Amino acid sequence: MTSIAVSSQKGGVGKTTLSINLAHAFARVGVRTLLVDADPQGSVGHSLTRQSRLLSGFYDFLLDPSLPLEPLMVATRLPTFSLMAAGRASEYDVGGNGSHLARVRAFLRGVAASGIQICLIDTAAGLFGISGDVVAACDAILIPQQAEPLGIRSVPKLLEELDRLRITNPRLNVLGVCLSMVQADLPESRGVAAALRQVLPPGWVCETQIPRDALFVRASARGLPIGALEEGAAVQALFDALRDELAAKLSHHAG
Ligand SMILES: Nc1ncnc2c1ncn2[C@@H]1O[C@H](COP(=O)(O)OP(=O)(O)OP(=O)(O)O)[C@@H](O)[C@H]1O
Ligand SMILES: [Mg+2]
Repeated sequence: MTSIAVSSQKGGVGKTTLSINLAHAFARVGVRTLLVDADPQGSVGHSLTRQSRLLSGFYDFLLDPSLPLEPLMVATRLPTFSLMAAGRASEYDVGGNGSHLARVRAFLRGVAASGIQICLIDTAAGLFGISGDVVAACDAILIPQQAEPLGIRSVPKLLEELDRLRITNPRLNVLGVCLSMVQADLPESRGVAAALRQVLPPGWVCETQIPRDALFVRASARGLPIGALEEGAAVQALFDALRDELAAKLSHHAG
């Protein structure tokens, strides 16, 4: 199994949107995929399942690691795609660096034992506390970044925090930064990719970019990945391209 944390320092950069649609892209080509909501606010559950507040999930397992994992996995219409809600996050102390590592690792071992091939974890913003420990326990991290010039200013801090997490997890595979909400009609937005390539290590900026598109709002209002909308095929093709790009990076890293 490969575990991928979808994380960022900043909030509202498109983590949840990317997680849902990328997970769907893996699942639709037959990869057994689990999308885990590790955001205490429960955003994945919120967008994809109406009764998510009632579901047990990730934090229930952290509270009680003797819980069996399979009943926490919610089936979707795609047999290869399952979800895990955040669950009872309000009863779990999400603070402190390193204090969750053992439990998150036990969680990932359990998920791997259930036959899942890709485990995508949508985290809350920030690379500290539980979100930092999820990254430090995962095989890889994918970092969405909003395609706005201001975002570039936070890059030095991002690199610093990743260095800190790599002390705990030297094998962490940085899949890179994926630009989200790109506005192709604005030169300022188009220019962000080039500017990021100058300040990030070679190969970190993903070739695939996610455009700003009203369809994302429509899909999330209906509780669906974009590819499940009739008009979503073109955007789904981008997530398929991102999936293939990341799969190549993962196999390169492994080999
Ligand atoms: N490519 C896009 N085009 C248009 N709207 C988008 C796009 N990506 C995300 N959004 C919208 O932007 C908002 C923030 O996106 P999202 O919730 O995915 O970010 P996040 O990083 O998970 O936020 P948080 O840090 O709060 O968890 C949402 O309302 C979402 O619908
Ligand atoms: Mg989110």
